[in-house]
Amino acid sequence: MSVLFQTVINTGKLYSYRNLTKTISSCSCVLVRKISDVPRKFITFDEVVAARRAEARRSLVVQVNSEGSFSELHSYCSKYADIKGIHHYKNISEEHFMLIEFNTEENLKDVLQNCCSHQKDIDVMSLQSPFLWFRAAPGNKDKQMASCSASLVTKDGSSFPSEDTLFEELMGAATVSDQIQLLYDRTKLNDLSVRLRYLVAREVEIVMGSLYANVEVRPFGSSVNGFGRMGCDLDLVLSNVLTDEMTDPSKRLVFQEKRGGGGSGPLELCAGALELRVAGARRVQRILHARVPIVKFAHHHADIDCDLCHANMSGVYMSELLHLVGGLDGRGGGGAALVFAVRRWAAAAALTAAAPGRWITNFPLTLLVLFFLQQGPQPLLPTVRYLVQKAEKEDIRKAEDNLNCTFLRDANKLPLSAYSQNDASLETLLLQFFEFYAQFDFQGKAVSLNEGAAIRKPNALPLYIVNPLEQSMNVSRNVSYEECERLKLEVRNAAWQLEAALETGKTDDWGLLGLIEKKTTRGLKKLLRVGNSHRLVSVKDLFTNDEEQPSSIKDKLEKLGKKSDRDSKTVREVAVTTGDKKERIKFKNSQVASEVYRIRRDKMI
Ligand code: CTP
Ligand code: MG
Repeated sequence: MSVLFQTVINTGKLYSYRNLTKTISSCSCVLVRKISDVPRKFITFDEVVAARRAEARRSLVVQVNSEGSFSELHSYCSKYADIKGIHHYKNISEEHFMLIEFNTEENLKDVLQNCCSHQKDIDVMSLQSPFLWFRAAPGNKDKQMASCSASLVTKDGSSFPSEDTLFEELMGAATVSDQIQLLYDRTKLNDLSVRLRYLVAREVEIVMGSLYANVEVRPFGSSVNGFGRMGCDLDLVLSNVLTDEMTDPSKRLVFQEKRGGGGSGPLELCAGALELRVAGARRVQRILHARVPIVKFAHHHADIDCDLCHANMSGVYMSELLHLVGGLDGRGGGGAALVFAVRRWAAAAALTAAAPGRWITNFPLTLLVLFFLQQGPQPLLPTVRYLVQKAEKEDIRKAEDNLNCTFLRDANKLPLSAYSQNDASLETLLLQFFEFYAQFDFQGKAVSLNEGAAIRKPNALPLYIVNPLEQSMNVSRNVSYEECERLKLEVRNAAWQLEAALETGKTDDWGLLGLIEKKTTRGLKKLLRVGNSHRLVSVKDLFTNDEEQPSSIKDKLEKLGKKSDRDSKTVREVAVTTGDKKERIKFKNSQVASEVYRIRRDKMI
């Protein structure tokens, strides 16, 4: 980004962005779209949603014994229908599941017609849903084993790297830009996880469809807006779809309707149905008196925590807007990668938390990143006002309370000059992000993505981020003065930390690592790290008893010196006294040893 930000950060140091260009010139830049490039076809949100919903309508999830059940399941289902692909995953209880996609919806209906109930008990009524289980074959199992030439599309598809593995990989990345891209690539929602989210929506839709004439259940939020990470919550919205057919005045036979059936009625009904009818739904919680009433539940089979709301199309249109702008900058996920890095940093700095409260959440944080990308003479993103100006007839949308959610839906219609004329690396952008907000006037200004500029704050709330679809609303109105102050402090610290990291080169928490490691555990982790890697010393590894008993502190120190001379493998020993007994403890990590030694020595003095 050619705009140069200058800022006085909390160290009192004046930092010029120009200083950074030398460091950055060596880092690998992400793909950037130029005017001369042949544009990639942008797939609209509606196209993605339609394709995913169709995919869910021809898919099933079957609980199986193990991944080895694949051949048997494949040959059994092939008797009824053509299979397009089978994906395997495990849930948190290590139970195995296969998601089967058939060629057509008709195929799936054929399979469902051949399903049965397990219980003969009249009290246990099964639900015709896309979640099933595969019963062991009666009789001799060997006879049933079929040879199968097909193979699993995905094996253990819900797993994602542990924190240690991820940090190890980030440690080995070449540049900070590579770290940011890697974090995104390794933690973003994968295809199987998206399929499962649409299948959970489909299951709730089937249940509610048996009670209402024309309902639809759709995922929204980070599961579909391009900013979802593995394991994120699934936001669902239950809506009454009034199609032209359903409201056709020429039709004379009309359904009898129940008055007063609106409000939170459908949600209450849905909560009951989830409890009584959906085998995978656990921990159903009704939060019906909130500003946006929701039903929370955990889907055990899909391993997803869900928040279901009713008639909240503005949330869906907001997801569509984020999907549009997030897909615009032509970097193959560059904008989203930056959002991922910022979200991880915010979580590590405890600016965000799993539970809602008086702090910022991921959604307004994402808006802060997108707003930042709208800045400068060559912004990576256009303003929302521009997208509204470019809207055509087919883009007109109205949400509840007649809220106008019209904006251009098809980014293919945008001139290339409207965005992406900027070749800054992700590393540059991340630092600029922190610097931009380190000097932002939060006290007097509001963030407006509609204008792409800071505007005068309409009230005294500490943090003001204009809701792009409902401009009279502040999406961060819950944020307290203290939390806003912490945000300001943390962006300054992050700018300072990243800049320092770029100057000092690769230490054990270089680049992004120092920013995304949880502050509360950072000190301890640093202490327990094995050498310069991110593998932590296990408690078992840490202490090994030594038979030899040193006679004095002098002995111990001498021994420690000799040991370190002869042993290049960073094994260290520290003398400790427990009661009358003196013993020596070996540490595999010299850093730990010296730290423990320091602590003990300080204590002795
Ligand atoms: N939303 C909104 N206005 C708000 C809050 C939320 O329109 N004030 C919509 C957004 O579309 C948002 C969605 O509701 O994406 C879900 O909100 P939330 O779950 O808080 O955020 P996510 O974007 O889903 O992020 P996370 O991964 O943390 O769930
Ligand atoms: Mg969410």
